[in-house]
Amino acid sequence: MELTGFSRPAEAGERQVGASVLSADFGQLADQASAALRAGASSLHVDVMDGHFVPNLSMGPAVCASLRNHVPDAVLDVHLMVTRPDTFAPLFIDAGASHVTFHMEAEVDHVGLAGRIHDAGCTAGLAINPDTPVDRMLEIASAFDLLLVMSVHPGFSGQKFIDAVLPKVESLRAALGPDVWIQMDGGVSPTTAPACRDAGCNQLVSASAIFGSSDYAAAIKGIRGLGTS
Ligand code: DX5
Ligand code: ZN
Repeated sequence: MELTGFSRPAEAGERQVGASVLSADFGQLADQASAALRAGASSLHVDVMDGHFVPNLSMGPAVCASLRNHVPDAVLDVHLMVTRPDTFAPLFIDAGASHVTFHMEAEVDHVGLAGRIHDAGCTAGLAINPDTPVDRMLEIASAFDLLLVMSVHPGFSGQKFIDAVLPKVESLRAALGPDVWIQMDGGVSPTTAPACRDAGCNQLVSASAIFGSSDYAAAIKGIRGLGTS
């Protein structure tokens, strides 16, 4: 079983879609997560909220472990929206995460924690909120496999896409080259995805546009862009 998260460099022109299970029906979580993977999602995005870093509570390690049990081959992309990612990252790695992203805004040794995530066999991502400048992320980007530019203020699915964040993606792509995974998360839909892709994103996360659709495959295809891998 190969669960290396985002360790493989992105290929030229490659575009992936991650399904954020925050908008799934939690009573049917495993079935809906499996259906999203069958419909073309390359990973499952697991939003973890602690009620402190963001004003919402979501999923704990037990939910991650249950997903791992029911979809053993899935890439589980854990997005930690928590004040203490150094405390929570090991719990989600033990629960079967393939990849762990945490936030620039969290007061932690970012590069040190990326190293600990790598040592535990997962890939590491760094996220920035819409109001956070990209400069500091650029300085430490080489320690990470994936960079997440939030296109909503984190905490809830179903929010409106903030297009003012797109220049941050352009800056990252220009500075870091074609291989790195640049992820967009928040308000991504077939309507907003073209701007994300044009700016340089190659990993697009969506919750409501996939799980709110009666046709997951059509939604995922629309987000990825027709005729792309
Ligand atoms: C927001 C989360 C997102 C969210 C996306 O705090 O990090 O992953 O689930 O939801 P949509 O795609 O509905 O905006
Ligand atoms: Zn997320």
